[in-house]
Amino acid sequence: MSPVGPTTLVMLLLSLISLLAASCTEQERSSLLQSISELSRDGGLSSSWGNASDCCEWEGIACSSDGTTVTDVSLSSRSLQGPISPSLGNLTGLLRLNLSNNMLSGGLPLELLSSKSILVLDVSFNQLDGDMDDLASLAPRQPMQVLNISSNLFTGQFTSTTWKVMVNLVTLNASNNSFTGQIPTHFCNISPSFAVLEVSYNQLSSTVPKGLGNCSALRVLKAGHNNLRGSLPDELFSATSLEHLSFPNNYLNGVLDGSPIMNLRNLATLDLGGNNLVGSIPDSIGQLKELEELRLDRNSMSGELPSSLGSCTNLIIIDLKFNNFSGEISKVNFSTLHNLEILDLLYNSFTGTVPESIYSCRNLIALRLSGNNLLHGQLSPRIRNLKSLTFLSIGYNNLTNITNTLQILESCKNLTVLLIGSNFINETMPDDDSIDGFENLQALDIGSCQLSGKIPLWISKLAKLEVLILQGNRLSGSIPTWISFLNYLSFLDISNNSLTGEIPTTIMLASEKTAAHFDPRIFDLPIYNNPSRQYRIHTVPKTLDLSSNKLTGVIPSDIGQVTSLLSLNISFNNLTGPIPPSICNLANLLVLDLSNNNITGEVPAALENLHFLSKLNVSNNDLEGPIPTGGQFGTFQNSSFGGNPKLCGSVLGRRCSSTEVGPVSIVDRKPFGSKVIFAIAFGVFFGVGVLYDQMVLYRYFGLEKFVLA
Ligand SMILES: *[C@@H]1O[C@H](CO)[C@@H](O)[C@H](O)[C@H]1NC(C)=O
Ligand SMILES: *[C@@H]1O[C@H](CO)[C@@H](O)[C@H](O)[C@H]1NC(C)=O
Ligand SMILES: *[C@@H]1O[C@H](CO)[C@@H](O)[C@H](O)[C@H]1NC(C)=O
Ligand SMILES: *[C@@H]1O[C@H](CO)[C@@H](O)[C@H](O)[C@H]1NC(C)=O
Ligand SMILES: *[C@@H]1O[C@H](CO)[C@@H](O)[C@H](O)[C@H]1NC(C)=O
Ligand SMILES: *[C@@H]1O[C@H](CO)[C@@H](O)[C@H](O)[C@H]1NC(C)=O
Ligand SMILES: *[C@@H]1O[C@H](CO)[C@@H](O)[C@H](O)[C@H]1NC(C)=O
Ligand SMILES: *[C@@H]1O[C@H](CO)[C@@H](O)[C@H](O)[C@H]1NC(C)=O
Ligand SMILES: *[C@@H]1O[C@H](CO)[C@@H](O)[C@H](O)[C@H]1NC(C)=O
Ligand SMILES: *[C@@H]1O[C@H](CO)[C@@H](O)[C@H](O)[C@H]1NC(C)=O
Ligand SMILES: *[C@@H]1O[C@H](CO)[C@@H](O)[C@H](O)[C@H]1NC(C)=O
Ligand SMILES: *[C@@H]1O[C@H](CO)[C@@H](O)[C@H](O)[C@H]1NC(C)=O
Repeated sequence: MSPVGPTTLVMLLLSLISLLAASCTEQERSSLLQSISELSRDGGLSSSWGNASDCCEWEGIACSSDGTTVTDVSLSSRSLQGPISPSLGNLTGLLRLNLSNNMLSGGLPLELLSSKSILVLDVSFNQLDGDMDDLASLAPRQPMQVLNISSNLFTGQFTSTTWKVMVNLVTLNASNNSFTGQIPTHFCNISPSFAVLEVSYNQLSSTVPKGLGNCSALRVLKAGHNNLRGSLPDELFSATSLEHLSFPNNYLNGVLDGSPIMNLRNLATLDLGGNNLVGSIPDSIGQLKELEELRLDRNSMSGELPSSLGSCTNLIIIDLKFNNFSGEISKVNFSTLHNLEILDLLYNSFTGTVPESIYSCRNLIALRLSGNNLLHGQLSPRIRNLKSLTFLSIGYNNLTNITNTLQILESCKNLTVLLIGSNFINETMPDDDSIDGFENLQALDIGSCQLSGKIPLWISKLAKLEVLILQGNRLSGSIPTWISFLNYLSFLDISNNSLTGEIPTTIMLASEKTAAHFDPRIFDLPIYNNPSRQYRIHTVPKTLDLSSNKLTGVIPSDIGQVTSLLSLNISFNNLTGPIPPSICNLANLLVLDLSNNNITGEVPAALENLHFLSKLNVSNNDLEGPIPTGGQFGTFQNSSFGGNPKLCGSVLGRRCSSTEVGPVSIVDRKPFGSKVIFAIAFGVFFGVGVLYDQMVLYRYFGLEKFVLA
């Protein structure tokens, strides 16, 4: 007989205990099952959970290490629909509940908010509603530390009585709801470790409360996109733990200069963009050694840049666009800002030259100096030091020597966006083998320069080009056929030149088959045409503008295959022949301008089917017959049709003769086989997703010319 050793016995016993115990309790099991049974859609959870008896093994459930208590319920992004069940409040050991990114509706059960165990509750991105004032009835002293109720439909105010029980709260994320009233400050008094308050994208109003000064542990305060008024109270700068302070897109006024901002020694992000601030940037900003992001864009600030900015050696982003800052940029020594990635000074009143010290910022990705009176003379070859430079915008300045400029920039291999229009006045477009490179360029604007010459051959090598703007020059010669072989070209504006010859038959067609997208990193910089209109683009609004040239011949019928086209402008040329019926295939068209040509024949009745058409101009041609009356045609004025003596219709006050009763469709039905109908249907269907962005952009800019700056 070999005796069983005591160690073995203990081990046996232990494993027996854990075997018996390694299962959640019946109570927890039924609470969980109860919670999903109340859902109208459970994302397949009930069938998945049905397989195991131990709820600790269920998907999305985690238990304590002894396997007896449910501690985590993580059911984000599972398409759950219906109410959040109060029975989750019966899980007495639950520490973390994450139900984010579902379609849950109804209120947030008090049973959860009054849980004696839950530390972290995330119900963000649902459709929960209700007024948080109801919480007033909660028992005191909740353990809750992190509460994320952002991106729901909650309303009401953050009244102090309501939230007084949250004595352990560290983080409250209530962004993107419909909360009203003041920024709450009482959390800081109630909970000594309160550190993160995120209330952006709500309807908070009134001024920024002085009480925030008592928030000694507050690290993050985000209250952008509300209706806050007044100036920043000095008391705010007593919250010396602040690392992130952002109030973008409110109605704040007053000055920053004179505020004790240097108290915020830990500040890494200061975002006050899109307010009504005046005055200059205080010298004391140089004491914010941790500053990484400085955003004061879209205010009415003025004065010179403080040289002390060069002491903020951790700066990554400086965004001062759309202000009235003046003086020389070279007041700041940029050579100390080794981490600088984005410098955006668009539309200010800076003067002088690009400071040499900028060329030491080896990590610079985006440099935007357009719309100052800043640059004159020739571009410095030292810009080649900026190996990461991806976005360069220096238009609307007074640079000279375009040949030299392009020869310098061609070796910036990472350039994807180059906007240098409105410089180099009256020079000649270089067209020779000396320009090479730019292989990654996606957008090129050399418009408004009055350049003479031709559309240069080196552009044909820019295989990734999506946007080409050469408008407002004096380019002559014909539109080269190679333009049709630029596979991604989606935005072509060569208007206001002296181009002759015919329109290449397959112009813009190649890009129909490709899905080009801008480098998203770049268009983190939104595009603008004025301070209040900001838009982040992901795709280019498909546009063809050949207006105000000397083009002849007919409108190529293939244009009808560029079905994602949003804007077609070929006005002020000398085009002849009919409106090709295929234009009626351009189901997404918003703008169609064929005016001031010599176009003949009838206005195709099938143009009525272009449901998005907002602007039509066929005036000053030689069109004849009745004007269609259906669809969008009810919205067009007589100015759309004037100067066509042979056109008739009530909009022109000219009755059609009896031989031309009603609009006659000149669309030949034959070629509209099932394929074409499929193509149209596909275009409309497909268009919803892909084109939405572009259409919003056009709507947003009110059909004005799309401007890159
Ligand atoms: C939760 O507990 C309450 C009482 O505290 C009880 O009435 C209810 O039935 C329980 N729900 C579940 C699903 O266990
Ligand atoms: C649960 O069991 C059913 C039937 O036995 C099976 O079809 C299903 O795939 C199982 N689900 C999981 C998540 O194991
Ligand atoms: C909840 O889950 C989502 C998705 O996994 C995650 O992004 C989020 O950080 C989680 N919430 C918390 C508070 O951890
Ligand atoms: C909700 O907010 C918390 C704290 O701010 C954060 O940790 C969590 O990731 C957020 N949830 C989601 C889904 O972003
Ligand atoms: C708040 O939650 C949202 C998601 O709803 C998240 O994007 C954001 O980063 C969170 N804010 C903070 C400060 O954690
Ligand atoms: C706000 O919430 C809506 C709905 O969940 C969401 O589509 C939107 O992206 C959110 N906006 C922000 C800025 O988080
Ligand atoms: C240039 O771009 C490439 C591809 O995006 C990237 O891998 C590389 O790091 C960039 N070079 C620099 C110097 O930033
Ligand atoms: C632009 O530069 C040219 C040539 O260098 C000079 O003659 C002209 O005065 C400058 N214009 C402005 C507005 O600075
Ligand atoms: C323009 O630059 C080119 C190339 O660097 C140079 O040869 C030429 O002399 C410059 N022209 C003027 C007027 O400076
Ligand atoms: C450019 O040329 C036009 C016409 O020749 C002239 O009127 C204009 O003054 C010139 N502009 C500059 C800046 O040289
Ligand atoms: C239209 O053509 C006629 C002759 O064919 C010509 O005289 C007239 O100038 C042209 N109109 C326009 C606007 O080009
Ligand atoms: C337009 O073209 C016609 C015929 O091709 C020509 O007679 C006329 O002069 C041209 N008009 C203009 C303004 O170029």
